[in-house]
Amino acid sequence: MQKQSAIALGLGAVLMLAAGPGMGADVAAGKAKAAQCAACHGQDGISNNDMWPNLAGQKQGYLVKQLKAFRDGARSNPQMSPMAQGLSDQDIENLAAYFSSLEP
Ligand code: HEC
Repeated sequence: MQKQSAIALGLGAVLMLAAGPGMGADVAAGKAKAAQCAACHGQDGISNNDMWPNLAGQKQGYLVKQLKAFRDGARSNPQMSPMAQGLSDQDIENLAAYFSSLEP
């Protein structure tokens, strides 16, 4: 009985981890993908244009939310929306993990 509940607890923990934010986010993959963002948001997530936001050190959850909003049309910008269009959920998780890991 005790063994069974330990297994159930273990399973629960694994499921919770899998469903949590930043699920399997891969910073290295995010960095590779971020090459296409650098032209506007800067090499290190610091933009050099007054109208392009810095991304370095931004909260991971917020970045995920904004990228999905651009991709799904809830947020729209002629420059940024097309950039988000081709991103998968995994790409977004990876990019958000990468940019949030940078020094602001
Ligand atoms: C052609 C220039 C350009 C490129 C390339 C670009 N962006 Fe953007 N991005 C913008 C602009 C402009 C905004 C601000 C949009 C607005 O004013 O609503 C923005 C906004 C954002 C925001 C929201 C920031 C905030 O504080 O709300 C995120 C996140 C973001 N970009 C991520 C990315 C990622 C990730 C990539 C690469 C896949 C990328 N961008 C590529 C121009 C660009």
